[in-house]
Amino acid sequence: MAVRPKRSESLSTRRREAVDVEKIELDCLLEAVHSRYGFDFREYAPASLRRRINRRVQLEGLPTISALQERLLREPPLMEQLLLDLSINVTAMFRDPSFYATLRRHVVPLLKTWPFTRAWVAGCSTGEEVYSLAIVLHEEGLYERARIYATDINEEVLERARLGVFPLAKMQDYTRNYIAGGGTRAFSDYYTSAYDGVAFDRSLVRNVVFAQHNLASEGSFNEFHLILCRNVMIYFERSLQERVFDLFDDSLVRLGILGLGTKESLRTSERAPKYEELDPRERVYRKVKA
Ligand SMILES: C[S@@+](CC[C@H](N)C(=O)[O-])C[C@H]1O[C@@H](n2cnc3c(N)ncnc32)[C@H](O)[C@@H]1O
Repeated sequence: MAVRPKRSESLSTRRREAVDVEKIELDCLLEAVHSRYGFDFREYAPASLRRRINRRVQLEGLPTISALQERLLREPPLMEQLLLDLSINVTAMFRDPSFYATLRRHVVPLLKTWPFTRAWVAGCSTGEEVYSLAIVLHEEGLYERARIYATDINEEVLERARLGVFPLAKMQDYTRNYIAGGGTRAFSDYYTSAYDGVAFDRSLVRNVVFAQHNLASEGSFNEFHLILCRNVMIYFERSLQERVFDLFDDSLVRLGILGLGTKESLRTSERAPKYEELDPRERVYRKVKA
């Protein structure tokens, strides 16, 4: 016997059912992606995930999320495309300049108390944040005894980060950000222009290691004095945020510093009592208990 929606069912009931079915399809797709490719999006904030996956469904001319799943399982290039869809890569040099002013004012003096700085920029996207941090460490006399580990889930953005070539059209904004963040030199000294792009000085990445790392599924790989993770965890559900806080906690030396930026907070985390706030607005914390 065919199973059909009852005639008497109201439009709102049918709409609710469609939403339920879509949720089941979405969960199945995320399971399939995890089993087939190891990328774990199961604890990402669902609203943004659904929007992005439905956009891919439309662009591929497919009828449903299940149809997308079917193709994803057999077509690794489509998975690469979906990875780009799901990893929101928006970034900028000296993004939120007040964060860099805080780094210079409150964090650099603490870093200077150690003989060496190991920093981790987690979710570094195309690298603008990494070059910005390198410039700050260079100007503060810390770069020569520093190593920056710059990681992202997405190999394609890391490839662009390694190149260090950014659009010339962005340089006016970036120069303004650099100055607002406490920079006092000529920003153009750090790059050379060619056509519509600028290539940043290679010396800024001499002490940088770019590597793929998935915050949702991989563990700690070193001990750091400074961890920056801004505009990444906003896309995660609470449970995943907690696990990532655990990962950062495991990866920080005692008195190490965690910079989250204005969008994320440690305040509601179970780990919060181990940290003191160095700057409540910029959400910069210091691990005071091991
Ligand atoms: C909006 S960008 C933020 C870039 C930079 N931190 C900033 O504030 O400008 C978010 C980055 O997080 C990365 N990302 C998302 N999920 C991740 C995960 N599970 N592990 C590592 N990186 C992830 C994305 O690929 C993307 O490049």
